[in-house]
Amino acid sequence: MVYLGLLGCGTVGSGVVKLLAQNQHTIARRAGEEIKIKRVLERDAEKCLQSGLDTGSMAAHIDEILDDEQIQIVVELIGGIQPALDYILQAMRKGKHVVTANKDLIAEHGQILFETAAACKVDFYFEASVAGGIPIIYPLKQSLAANRIKEVIGILNGTTNYILTKMSREGRPYEEILAEAQALGYAEADPTADVEGLDAARKIAILSSIAFNTRITFSDVYVEGITAITPADIRYARELGYVVKLLAVAKENEREQLEIRVHPAFLPVTHPLAAVDDVFNAVFVYGDAVGEVMHYGRGAGQFPTASAVLGDVIDITRNIQHGISARIGCTCYDDRTILNINQLSAEFYIRMTVTDRPGVLAGIAGVFGNNNVSIASVIQKTNSGQCAELILITHRVQEQNLRDSLAVLQGMSIVSRIDNVIRLEGTDRMEV
Ligand code: NDP
Ligand code: HSE
Repeated sequence: MVYLGLLGCGTVGSGVVKLLAQNQHTIARRAGEEIKIKRVLERDAEKCLQSGLDTGSMAAHIDEILDDEQIQIVVELIGGIQPALDYILQAMRKGKHVVTANKDLIAEHGQILFETAAACKVDFYFEASVAGGIPIIYPLKQSLAANRIKEVIGILNGTTNYILTKMSREGRPYEEILAEAQALGYAEADPTADVEGLDAARKIAILSSIAFNTRITFSDVYVEGITAITPADIRYARELGYVVKLLAVAKENEREQLEIRVHPAFLPVTHPLAAVDDVFNAVFVYGDAVGEVMHYGRGAGQFPTASAVLGDVIDITRNIQHGISARIGCTCYDDRTILNINQLSAEFYIRMTVTDRPGVLAGIAGVFGNNNVSIASVIQKTNSGQCAELILITHRVQEQNLRDSLAVLQGMSIVSRIDNVIRLEGTDRMEV
């Protein structure tokens, strides 16, 4: 018997309790041992009882788990930074293996967690921390380990993908769909981490650290959210052959420097990620040997996330039986340069409202030309009285040059406003 200590019996924790009970026999056979939850630390006893645990398993204090020598694996599902960090470090120092779904913690404190796990010779698994039920951490660390990874592009946040999908299907504005998603319980009451791209940034920090063997933390990721996306942008994207998605992008350039960013993007409708709709997540990986690989599924939810957590628990249980641990530890043995967003280049969609009279287009084109920004196409979409709406797509240009152009344009009397600027992504796919 392998005993677990469970920290947190909320959405995911109670999913772990229920799934372990539901598939007990199958899990025991696959793991080679029976797995049992011995103690649970949870503020609200009612949550434990509702998920099928008895009062005898409830711990009043973390020490009841840490000091229990029968407990070999601690499953941390309380979330947040503290006390989760202290609890995990203490558990490792007591020789216990740890499984967590806590992306906030790993994206900010990965280094101390991996160093402590290595020093204590314990396993530290975190498959559920990125894209919920989708297997991606283990595939990157193991199944794709023979590849040089060139890029990882993910749709890593279900809430924003749901909002953008609804906006696209129904042509309704962001605020309206968000309010509806909150009322239905799909979006948090405080949606900041999701809609501002912070949740996706934490996840791509974790994935890119593994893919590029370099410690990448949340603060290394350039982040833009979806709050400025309008139905007009989505409509124009569709007309031009794109969909709008919140993408988490990690790439290496030919000089092995890295770009790590989260932002809304125009993605060609032919790209595999373009078909990922609603709350679904997906991770697209390009490896030099395997080529394109895409992992698709549910990025959140009680049972999908519990599926990933218990997969980790089963693997550790197998290790325990063979007397091995820390087989796949920290893989951040490089220290690659992470480029600043202004050092990057991209193709851009620009929507702006301008005065509609002779010479205006030439004036605007002149500003872009002076800043070395090459225009690929221009469409004048609407014309209401004195004003026209211009949709421009640029060739690949330096971010800094585009910013310089926009700063000049914003000060010109012929430009009423720059309505939106969105990067294009996936137009240079290596395989089509
Ligand atoms: P919940 O808030 O539903 O569950 C956490 C539980 O832990 C709550 O019952 C909470 O009680 C309890 N808790 C928090 N702190 C303590 C403490 N110090 N002592 C005792 N109990 C405590 O969160 P989730 O289950 O949704 O998320 C858990 C983790 O999984 C997070 O790291 C999250 O990012 C991650 N995750 C979640 C996914 C999902 O779909 N929900 C998907 C992927 C990852 P109280 O409510 O009273 O604070
Ligand atoms: N809030 C996240 C999402 C799920 O909307 O995808 C937890 O990581």
